[in-house]
Amino acid sequence: VCGIVGYVGHRQALDVVLNGLHRLEYRGYDSAGVAVLDGLGELHVARKAGRIANLEASLDSTGRDAFDGTAAVGHTRWATHGPPADRNSHPHTDTSGRVAVVHNGIIENFAELRAELESEGVELASDTDTESVAHLVARAYANGATAGDLAASVRAVCRRLEGAFTLVVTHADVPDEIVAARRSSPLVVGVGDGEHFVASDVAAFIDHTRQAVELGQDQLVVIGRDGYEVTDFAGEQATARPFTVDWDLSAAEKGGHEYFMLKEIDEQPEALANTLRGHFASGRISLDEQRMSDQDLRDVDKVFVVACGSAYHSGLVAKYAIEHWCRLPVEVELASEFRYRDPVLDRDTLVVAVSQSGETADTLEAVRHARGQKARVLAVCNTNGAQIPRESDAVLYTHAGPEIGVASTKAFLAQVAANYLVGLALAQARGTKYPDEVAREFGELENAPSAVQKVLATTEQVMDLGQRIADSKAVLFLGRHVGFPVALEGALKLKELAYMHAEGFAAGELKHGPIALIEEGLPVVVVMPSPKGRPMLHSKLVSNISEIQARGARTIVIAEEGDEVVRPYADELIEIPAVPTLLQPIVATVPLQVLAAEIARSRGYDIDKPRNLAKSVTVE
Ligand code: F6R
Repeated sequence: VCGIVGYVGHRQALDVVLNGLHRLEYRGYDSAGVAVLDGLGELHVARKAGRIANLEASLDSTGRDAFDGTAAVGHTRWATHGPPADRNSHPHTDTSGRVAVVHNGIIENFAELRAELESEGVELASDTDTESVAHLVARAYANGATAGDLAASVRAVCRRLEGAFTLVVTHADVPDEIVAARRSSPLVVGVGDGEHFVASDVAAFIDHTRQAVELGQDQLVVIGRDGYEVTDFAGEQATARPFTVDWDLSAAEKGGHEYFMLKEIDEQPEALANTLRGHFASGRISLDEQRMSDQDLRDVDKVFVVACGSAYHSGLVAKYAIEHWCRLPVEVELASEFRYRDPVLDRDTLVVAVSQSGETADTLEAVRHARGQKARVLAVCNTNGAQIPRESDAVLYTHAGPEIGVASTKAFLAQVAANYLVGLALAQARGTKYPDEVAREFGELENAPSAVQKVLATTEQVMDLGQRIADSKAVLFLGRHVGFPVALEGALKLKELAYMHAEGFAAGELKHGPIALIEEGLPVVVVMPSPKGRPMLHSKLVSNISEIQARGARTIVIAEEGDEVVRPYADELIEIPAVPTLLQPIVATVPLQVLAAEIARSRGYDIDKPRNLAKSVTVE
């Protein structure tokens, strides 16, 4: 959840690290800090609660001269232990101020470590779980078998830590090296010419190099100007996976848009097309990685989709397709609930783990639980080489490109498309669809990018509506069948961006409780099924709309072009192109994203960085 970066090279390290932090700010943004090693063997630390801009203003007011050096670490925080405050911001230092540590994750045995240090007379200056690490590293570096060896000191401390963490550590005695260690939380090395980087993700150094190395679980790396060395926590040489970043700098920049989120909404046709590309050739659907046999796929007798947030909603959409195409029971579960309720899993269960980041802690733990029970795991992921795909038996990558806005948009649509590909791969393996049917369904999917492009061409009306309802105290969302997860997604977008009370309901549930919420003027968004594709559901929803209208709701209806039956019931009608039922979630979600973004903008909020949130939730 936090962003971390470290640099050793030939440039002004402060600039490199601040720039890297800006690119990682989506990971957490309640405080920021840097530590620079100068050429004179001193460490200089600055840290501030609030956005990186606060840290920069503070550096400007104190003067940046002391921060002249070519090695540095930096951090942008999402608070776990202790409120956002200067004293809790990273880097944390030991008592002498010669060791600086930045950390992402949670050290679960921190209370015990703090108590041990306090009993030895160490005065802790923060409420964090991280500060103990700085003191412990300083102690290991000063004494005993690890004395004078920073990497060995960090290893010794890591062996004592419980939980998930990435740590980046510097010591003023060794100004030309930085040590970083990883357990579960992400860590990549950037390999440049006469310079090396460590960071939570490649966005931090993409300005300087696209050559990267992904550290594995329980590995430690020492970077210097001219190289890097990877070992495990026992000190044995270890190998980490090199890769080349396949997107360029422009993908991590706003490209003329006011916010990343608006750019990412516009990129959705491309994200969908890239996700589908290459997955259907010679009449067959293929995955990106398959470490399980075709027979294993044939033997699947039950599917669980596990995920969190929007990714979970993409799973709810997938259930309709996979059950329909594959005649397999599909359960969709929140990853945070899945493993705590002893789900019935065996080697014929396929668990589809959907995660944009590939590092969401709950989803990762669900994957581990499933594999522990011998189930096969197929990951749908947007991040090459992240932990969830690494630990899975098969992988399908969504090629949405980097998503920097905290609220998921293009990654969500790409997840829906990728989940459908999983359904088609299963139908093909199990023979529940003939090859020509699989080809036809894939052909329908290929129309999704142009349908979304059409929706994007008509967003002005939605923006205008967003401005007009921005003062509402709540908005409800209703849908049936595949429109139900769309309603949930629309409500989630609105809560997280506009801090407005929003709920999504299955329209059939209305009379079982939620209708009591309807009052004069309350905006209710209704996602209509196609009148031709789903005539029965269509007429049921028309009745639902008339029931809420009779009770004073302001009805905002998302309906297929040419749906004249629903028009009289719509106070506001938003038309979307006619598409097959299973594609409707892809097109119907887009106006809801735009609506939420516009309401949030009208209310004056930063839609890229909603309050209290962070992009990658690497803690449970
Ligand atoms: C909502 C949103 C989150 C994520 C969720 C899962 O807009 O972005 O709900 O969908 O945190 O994240 P990943 O897909 O990275 O596992």
